[in-house]
Amino acid sequence: MRSTFAIIHIKNLIFNFNQIRKQVLKSKVLAVVKADAYGHGVSQVVSALDALKNSPEYFGTALTDEAIEVRKISQKPILIFEPLSFDNINDIFSYDLESTIFSDHHLNLISKTEFPNKLKVHIKIDTGMGRLGVDYKSAVDYIKRVSKISKIEIKGIYTHFASSDAKNKKFAKLQLKRFNSIIAALKNEKIKVGLIHAANSGAILDLPEAHFDMVRPGISLYGYYPSTETSESIKLKPVMSLISEVDSISQKEKGEAVSYNSLWRAKTKTNIATIPIGYADGFNRNLTNKSKVIIGRKIYNQVGRVTMDRICVNIGNDNYKVGERVILLGNKGEIKIDAWDWSKILNTIPYEITCAISKRVPRVYK
Ligand SMILES: Cc1ncc(COP(=O)(O)O)c(C=O)c1O
Repeated sequence: MRSTFAIIHIKNLIFNFNQIRKQVLKSKVLAVVKADAYGHGVSQVVSALDALKNSPEYFGTALTDEAIEVRKISQKPILIFEPLSFDNINDIFSYDLESTIFSDHHLNLISKTEFPNKLKVHIKIDTGMGRLGVDYKSAVDYIKRVSKISKIEIKGIYTHFASSDAKNKKFAKLQLKRFNSIIAALKNEKIKVGLIHAANSGAILDLPEAHFDMVRPGISLYGYYPSTETSESIKLKPVMSLISEVDSISQKEKGEAVSYNSLWRAKTKTNIATIPIGYADGFNRNLTNKSKVIIGRKIYNQVGRVTMDRICVNIGNDNYKVGERVILLGNKGEIKIDAWDWSKILNTIPYEITCAISKRVPRVYK
């Protein structure tokens, strides 16, 4: 196996899941495992969660192909977030998957097709995200129409928050108000809609009134808060660490440069270690001259251009051997580097960091 690898701490995944369970005692949990479980490996994540006594009641994916991967592991209901597409209709029935619908386009397609069973759907309502869903103003009408189609079984209705991770919850609360008024109108008319769900990680943390029948945690399962503005009302532990080793050491004299375009030069005589991880592995090129790594019990600066396969680290006068362990994401005692450290440099969020650790990096499950 390569000396650069990611450790997926299944214990931490389960810890985070249990923290979420405690936070939402009265609601079911749909574990969001799209994008290869945010880069952690969908098969292993689903197997670990599904084996729990208090396992998630549902799994959720973005794509039909991802849902098929989940079905190979788990018999639980699986909701696909992407809009229903008839390219995938055979798979939806063969693998007993649940689809997202919200438009007349979907109803037209449904009316023209013969199904072996009822099509299981969740109706997505756009309460302000402005991306997918039936507009909240016409949602009651739409759901009433769907409820009369005998080929369809409504398993749920849902919405998605645009900024439940913001400190200011004004917009999330407006979305919630719109969603609640739809729920009230449907109740009034005695229309059965199955599970009502809305909360992503931000709302799980900070909007208990949005927990409804089921919550949909993604990033919190993997050990990160969705932003730096949410409360940290539950403790989370990062699930992924990223490990490598020193693969060469060279001495540089004052003024000598390292890596492409000579973006860094030694100020004094120093030792440079190279580490076999680069942007092809998800160590983003824009981390150049800005990131840090842990070797031994110390933290060191990464220096010079990040290349496709390799980075350089200034280890000063310290002495390490080839093969010495390097922590790119993770901790050694009190010293830690996590996906937020990279996110702040890259102006992004931990979601993108863990998803971007490429397939070239083997995952080791512990
Ligand atoms: C529909 C839906 N629900 C829930 C989530 C999980 O969100 P988070 O990772 O912020 O918890 C996502 C992810 O973007 C999503 O698309």
